[in-house]
Amino acid sequence: MRVAVLISGGGSNMETLVRSMTGDHPARPVLVLSNRPGAGGLAKAEALGVPTAVVDHTAHPDRESFEGALDEALRAANPDLIALAGFMRILTPGFVRGWAGRMLNVHPSLLPKYPGLHTHARALAAGDAEAGCTVHEVTGELDAGPIRGQARVPVLPGDTPDTLAARVLEREHALYPAVLRRVAEGTPGVLHL
Ligand code: GAR
Repeated sequence: MRVAVLISGGGSNMETLVRSMTGDHPARPVLVLSNRPGAGGLAKAEALGVPTAVVDHTAHPDRESFEGALDEALRAANPDLIALAGFMRILTPGFVRGWAGRMLNVHPSLLPKYPGLHTHARALAAGDAEAGCTVHEVTGELDAGPIRGQARVPVLPGDTPDTLAARVLEREHALYPAVLRRVAEGTPGVLHL
C-alpha cells in the first residue's frame, strides 16, 4: 500500500507514521506534501528519505484551483491511501469524493465532540474530565467520517490548552500508526487505546 501524508506544520504525526512503515508493514510512504512551504515537517520528511512536495494554497486564487493542483500532485505519486496529519485546510466534498474511502485524518478530540479548531480550549471550557484524539475516515463533512480509532487522556488540574494538547499529541503518536497498520492490513472496526 502506497501512502501519501499531507501536512501543514511540524509534522510530528507524519514522522511517527513514516517511521512505522518499515519491515513487514504492508504500507510504504511515497510522498509527504505540505500546503505551507515553510512547514517544519518537510525537512523531517527529507531527512527520512521520503519524497516531498509543496502545493501552496496562497499561490491559488480559490479553493477549486488549489484542490486541482493538490489532486494533480497526489495523482502523480499514485497513493492508495492519503493520511492527513496536521493538514489544516478544509477539503471540499468534491475533492474528497475523488479519494473516497482512501483518506484518513487525525483529530485532537474525542469526536463527535469538538470538530473543527481549538479543541483543547473547548474541552477545558466545558469542564471535561477526559480528552483525547480520533483517527477517522475522511468524508465530505468536516471531522465527521467513520471513526477508526480513539485514545483518551485525563484532563488534569491546572491544564492549559497547551499542556492538554501535548498530552493528547503523545497519544496521537501511538494511535495513528496503529490505525494505519490496521487499515493497511484490512482489519475492520475501531481501535481503542
Ligand atoms: C495534531 O495535534 C493534529 O491532531 C492536529 O494538528 C496537530 C498537528 O501536529 N490536527 C488538526 O487540528 C486537524 N484539524 P503535527 O504537525 O506535529 O503532527
